[in-house]
Amino acid sequence: MTSLTIKRPDDWHLHLRDGDALRAVLPFTAARFARAIVMPNLKPPVTNSEQALAYRRRILDALPAGMKFEPLMTLYLTDNTYPTEVDRAKASGCVHGFKLYPAGATTNSDSGVTDIRRIEPVLARMSELGMILQVHGEVTDPNVDVFDREARFIDGVLAQTVERFGELRIVFEHITTRAAAQFVLNARPGVAATITPQHLLMNRNALFTGGIRPHHYCLPVLKSESDRRALLEVVASGNPRFFLGTDSAPHARHTKENACGCAGIFSSHAGIELYAEAFEAVGALQRLEGFASEFGADFYGLPQNEARITLVKEAWDVPAHYPFGSDELVPLSAGERISWRLKN
Ligand code: DOR
Ligand code: ZN
Repeated sequence: MTSLTIKRPDDWHLHLRDGDALRAVLPFTAARFARAIVMPNLKPPVTNSEQALAYRRRILDALPAGMKFEPLMTLYLTDNTYPTEVDRAKASGCVHGFKLYPAGATTNSDSGVTDIRRIEPVLARMSELGMILQVHGEVTDPNVDVFDREARFIDGVLAQTVERFGELRIVFEHITTRAAAQFVLNARPGVAATITPQHLLMNRNALFTGGIRPHHYCLPVLKSESDRRALLEVVASGNPRFFLGTDSAPHARHTKENACGCAGIFSSHAGIELYAEAFEAVGALQRLEGFASEFGADFYGLPQNEARITLVKEAWDVPAHYPFGSDELVPLSAGERISWRLKN
């Protein structure tokens, strides 16, 4: 296959940041995706609908003239989120879910939820109003091995939440393990997962190839080859519970190339092309459209996009870095060749 035309995709998990950083990264997403679920982990976090609407406006204002893009907003759950916020979010028409960050699990998650029992009234209201819960699924106990944190979260938190709130629609975000893929496959209806390009393309060896590789560090951290294979199997099967969420998470170069480097991989510069590489590698390019352009919209209860994009098999070299305000941004696959290109 040398050309692939699909419905315009959406990114169901994206970090756009704010200010100069937002202006630097947004055009990459808007060139490929019609909509994106925008993560609320700003500093300070987006915890109420008023803030989400203001952030949405800043995103739209940052969009270059002539580009179309619809930000789908989310709110950041804290121990102090009240059920009435769910009603306000629903009424806003612009908020499409609430993000659960276990406190301390990842970048800007300090204000997250310390114990899921604290937000049970909020989850109950979300379930009643059909609002989607997006979950960063890792336990935060520093005694738990970093590679086991997702699996422990399933057994210790997620399984019970899924059963206790039997109608709540839940997206298990950026799954990284065979255990997570299995969990989602076997879960009740209303449970889905997003998968990033890096977790389809790399295993944890990529963190240490020839030395420590900070630009391959994200959370949840890359896992084993067996885990990666399990993710490829579910996406290649065309199961609609699994859909595209890049988790593209830009950080200035110096904050990653640091004695204590930040977690996050920027992938929006090739946010659909990288998936094409992964799907092609397992002979599943015909499954890309469902994963990228159909299953997520269906899960979120939104219409699929009518526009189309075309990918052509024409290699291009990813730049070593992009401008990022007064800083630099090192993208996934920097300095490497990608074989699929977005046709303008
Ligand atoms: O690697 C990550 N980066 N994982 C997350 O959960 C957050 C993200 C970020 O905001 O940088
Ligand atoms: Zn994320």
